Amino acid sequence: MKTKYYDFREIINEADLNEIIKAYNNGEIIAFPTETVYGLGANIHDDEAILRIYKAKNRPSDNPLIAHIGNIDQLDSLVKVVPEKAKLLMDAFWPGPLTIIFKKNNDISQIATAGLEAIGVRMPDHPVIETILVKGNLILVAPSANLSGSPSPTTMKHVSADLDSLIYGIIDGGNCEEGIESTIIDLTDEIPTILRPGTITKEDIEYEIGKIKFDESLIGTSALIAKAPGMKYKHYAPKAKVYIIENRNKTDLILLEITKKKMNINKCALICFDENLKNYEKINIPHKFSLGSLTNLKYGIRNLFRILRDCDILGIENIFIESYNEVGLGFSYMNRLKKAANQNYLKEI
Ligand code: TXA
Ligand code: MG
Repeated sequence: MKTKYYDFREIINEADLNEIIKAYNNGEIIAFPTETVYGLGANIHDDEAILRIYKAKNRPSDNPLIAHIGNIDQLDSLVKVVPEKAKLLMDAFWPGPLTIIFKKNNDISQIATAGLEAIGVRMPDHPVIETILVKGNLILVAPSANLSGSPSPTTMKHVSADLDSLIYGIIDGGNCEEGIESTIIDLTDEIPTILRPGTITKEDIEYEIGKIKFDESLIGTSALIAKAPGMKYKHYAPKAKVYIIENRNKTDLILLEITKKKMNINKCALICFDENLKNYEKINIPHKFSLGSLTNLKYGIRNLFRILRDCDILGIENIFIESYNEVGLGFSYMNRLKKAANQNYLKEI
């Protein structure tokens, strides 16, 4: 299939917009930009189109999709009740990078929700997808627009690298502002539970609705089954082996690892915060990437997946990357990093 490309970076072209809405209504699957990462959308009422998403991504069928809506009225057709706490969260964070899990209506696609009684819904904060959803009066179910297991796409080029010729179209809306997937909060349990951390933090949510908790699978290295099915899979992983640098100034450890494993230094990458760059002067690694300042983790998060993908393009075989304090945004950063590294910490011997 020849994939169609739509350039909506500057303006949303009316003729293309109509073509895209028509294609979604005809069962085509098209990738779109959001403020978090790119999504691969299908009409929620079209099971055949939804199946095509699972196939294109090679996604396990037990991993449900998030429904994307353009206005609050669309929520009624999806859920049984809207709890008070959901209303507070919607007021505070929608449109924005927060997915809320609700008890779903009976007639919602079993394929999109992987047979669960619940559905995740979010209202993305990006003019391109917002216009499509509102103008087309569409509800699109969409996972991230990558091949299952690879880092989520934050640019049109990332989508293209994974899915070109496998999907009907890709809409370019520029670089994603947040850079990691939405925070997921489950409101179907007694105590609201974060199933996936994102740039809206536990503290941000508690400010609005009081005490909440993290799903136990997110804490420590617990082997508990994650409540968000997708969280149990290896994820966000580049082709290279990733080593997490726990403390600053671990130059000797890195050098030792490089020697011990006979690594080709030209195929190693160092990813660190600007303040720490000077600590690594002794290592002659040609590929160094910046996570920005320690005081602006939002920048590091925005660029994390892009850097991991850039390493793939360069043929990098080993990546050394700095950790961050696991609180607030740092918790979300470390969640993605630990998955990309498969929990592989650079160890003292
Ligand atoms: O920011 C985002 O959320 C992006 C953009 C495209 O909106 N989407 C995204 O979708 O990250 P995906 O499919 O890559 O991740 C969705 C996660 C998976 O871990 C899935 O298991 C979980 O959400 N999920 C979806 N519906 C759920 C449900 N009803 N109950 C529990 N977990 C659910
Ligand atoms: Mg994904």
